[in-house]
Amino acid sequence: MTTSISRQIQKAVRNIPNLLQGYNIYVNRDKLRLIDIVFTKYFPEATSFVDLGGVWKVNAAYSLHTLKIPSIQRGTLVDTDYPAKLEATLIGQKKLKIVRGDFSQQQLIDNIGKVDVVFLFDVLLHQANPDWDEVLNRYSEYCSCFVIYNQQFIRSEETVRLLDLPLEEYISLIPEYQKEYCRYVFSHKDEIHPKYKKPLKDIHNIFQWGITDNGLRSTMNRLGYREAYFKNYGMFVDLPAFENHAFIFMKK
Ligand SMILES: C[S@@+](CC[C@H](N)C(=O)[O-])C[C@H]1O[C@@H](n2cnc3c(N)ncnc32)[C@H](O)[C@@H]1O
Repeated sequence: MTTSISRQIQKAVRNIPNLLQGYNIYVNRDKLRLIDIVFTKYFPEATSFVDLGGVWKVNAAYSLHTLKIPSIQRGTLVDTDYPAKLEATLIGQKKLKIVRGDFSQQQLIDNIGKVDVVFLFDVLLHQANPDWDEVLNRYSEYCSCFVIYNQQFIRSEETVRLLDLPLEEYISLIPEYQKEYCRYVFSHKDEIHPKYKKPLKDIHNIFQWGITDNGLRSTMNRLGYREAYFKNYGMFVDLPAFENHAFIFMKK
């Protein structure tokens, strides 16, 4: 408990510079730096991006940060959930298109169309039906570069569908605040979520997949991308089975 509190204090102190830039303390400065190196070092010709699931807690900070890069001509932000106040603020951003919906849906992806860079920050492990690798497959038709920051699973050699694990094993892996709801999900797996219109076992608000580095790398290789950058940022909050890993993949 003490360790968890001290980690939270360290995180808050580390992120104080966010306040000076107009971002809140949840905005991860490692992700801001990752964005900077993508557009300066790895893909300076890029002029467009899509930020998939860029809303919760961070209020579109990664989209707003990217729009400040002079070469960027257009951005798209996609999420299922927008606080009303945020949507009103974002309307003033002329280069940013706001899309409300499930970013894994083929029709939505076709509507976004060709885009230079896709951001997947803290979202890939939550994708099921379609699964995370199918989401990557769908975007690969349109995009040259994937920037992925994901809670990678380090407890197994193989990628694991976490919802297939025994309940207590699943519960031992996930954050404390989700445990009660996930117990409910396990006993109502096929109940349809009223908003997302999917069985509860597939919704994106819970941990769906334990994706390993090998699993992600082999998927990206199969889809025709090379790994241009990797960094391990260490344990994800207080969950020893997951580490924050960042990747930049470029189309071969
Ligand atoms: C864990 S938060 C991550 C927020 C931000 N990207 C970050 O790095 O801090 C996940 C966000 O992605 C959204 N999300 C996840 N899967 C989604 C999907 N398939 N379609 C639309 N939004 C999704 C959630 O609504 C939420 O805003």
